[in-house]
Parts: sequence; structure tokens; C-alpha cells
Amino acid sequence: MNHWSIKKIICYLTYKLIAKHLPGPGEFLMLGKMCHRFRSKISKPLFRDAAEKIGVGKNADFDNGSNIIMRDHANIGPEALISGKLGTVTIGKHVMMGSKCIIITQNHNYLEKGYEGFIGKDVLIDDYAWIGHRVTILPGVKIGKHAIVGAGAVVTKDVPDCGIAVGNPAVIKKIRKRQPA
Ligand SMILES: CC(C)(COP(=O)(O)OP(=O)(O)OC[C@H]1O[C@@H](n2cnc3c(N)ncnc32)[C@H](O)[C@@H]1OP(=O)(O)O)[C@@H](O)C(=O)NCCC(=O)NCCS
Repeated sequence: MNHWSIKKIICYLTYKLIAKHLPGPGEFLMLGKMCHRFRSKISKPLFRDAAEKIGVGKNADFDNGSNIIMRDHANIGPEALISGKLGTVTIGKHVMMGSKCIIITQNHNYLEKGYEGFIGKDVLIDDYAWIGHRVTILPGVKIGKHAIVGAGAVVTKDVPDCGIAVGNPAVIKKIRKRQPA
């Protein structure tokens, strides 16, 4: 936390202790929506880069957020876990994410005795992609523009633009018709 401003420290503590736990947009009518807006706003200064409008779901966990880039209208789903600090996670414009997704950016160096050290790789979820519930995305994966990842998939390899990937390990089942840019 060496180079953190006071504002960032306050946002971090507010997010971790309060905002993270507040209701989601589908709960308690207007109150849930207000809480969701508050949570999203308070988390913004934590990210490496964040557009004006972003969404952060209830109980989303992302360390201190400093390796995450949130493009315009990017969403992190409820109860997401974004784990590992050695790779950057970029969440593109209008990305939708179901609940309980896991995005991992680093592996233990298993060639070393005792797993010493980590190997980090960036993850990119490109614009307009839709990530279903309980998807796991492994280090180094790129999900293409307008791609869809089906519920429960474990994505080990890149998904092309407009690809629909399902299963564990995820395979491309279909290609969507090209979407407007
Ligand atoms: C990926 C998805 C969009 C595909 O929908 P679809 O185009 O209607 O797909 P279909 O039902 O025609 O299925 C196509 C094939 O993929 C398989 N399939 C579809 N979804 C799958 C999934 N999540 N996991 C594994 N296989 C899946 C089907 O069994 C079918 O296989 P087959 O060709 O061998 O018979 C949808 O199944 C899905 O997983 N949606 C996510 C729902 C979700 O998480 N919502 C949260 C809201 S954010």
C-alpha cells in the first residue's frame, strides 16, 4: 500500500468492509440498485484504470484491484473471484458476467522444488463478451469480442471473436453471427 493516496485507502476499506456486502441490483427494489451503484463507484479508484460507468457485483473479490482494467460499462459479476497479482485482467466494454466466476492470472512455478515463485499471464475479456455463471478463466486466456462462455465452463485456451465456448475444458460449440461493432 506504499504509494496509495488517502482516497484510495478509504475506498479500499469502504469496499472491503461495507460496500462489497451490500445488496445487489435485484434485491430490495431501489435500495439494491442504489447499493450496486455505490459499490461500483467506491471500487473505481482501486482499479488500474476504470471507465466512468462500470458495475461490480455483490461480494466480488479482487485483491486490491490494481491489476484490473475496466472499460466502459464493464461488469464484474456477483461473488466473482479475481485472483493473482502478476497478470493484468482487462474487462472490455459492455462485458456481462454471471455470478461466481473465477479469473486467475498466475500459476505456481511447478518446475521449482516447493513451487517457489509464480508465473503471471494476462487475461483479456474483450468487448461485448458474455461470461455465464460459474465460469473459470485460466491465466493467459483471451476471450474474443462478442464471444459467449457457457455456464460452468473452464476456459483454458483463447475463444475467438463471436465464439460460443462450453464445457471443461471449454470447446467452441458455435460461432455467433457477426455482431454490430
Ligand atoms: C452457452 C449458452 C448461451 C448456449 O446456448 P444455446 O446457443 O441455446 O446452446 P444449445 O442449448 O443449443 O446447446 C448447444 C450445445 O452446447 C451444449 N451446451 C450448452 N450450454 C452448455 C454449458 N453451459 N455447458 C456444457 N455444454 C453446454 C449443449 O448440450 C449442446 O450440445 P450438443 O450440440 O452436443 O447437443 C447457454 O447454454 C449457457 O450456458 N448460458 C449461460 C447461462 C448463464 O450462465 N446465465 C447467467 C446470466 S449472466
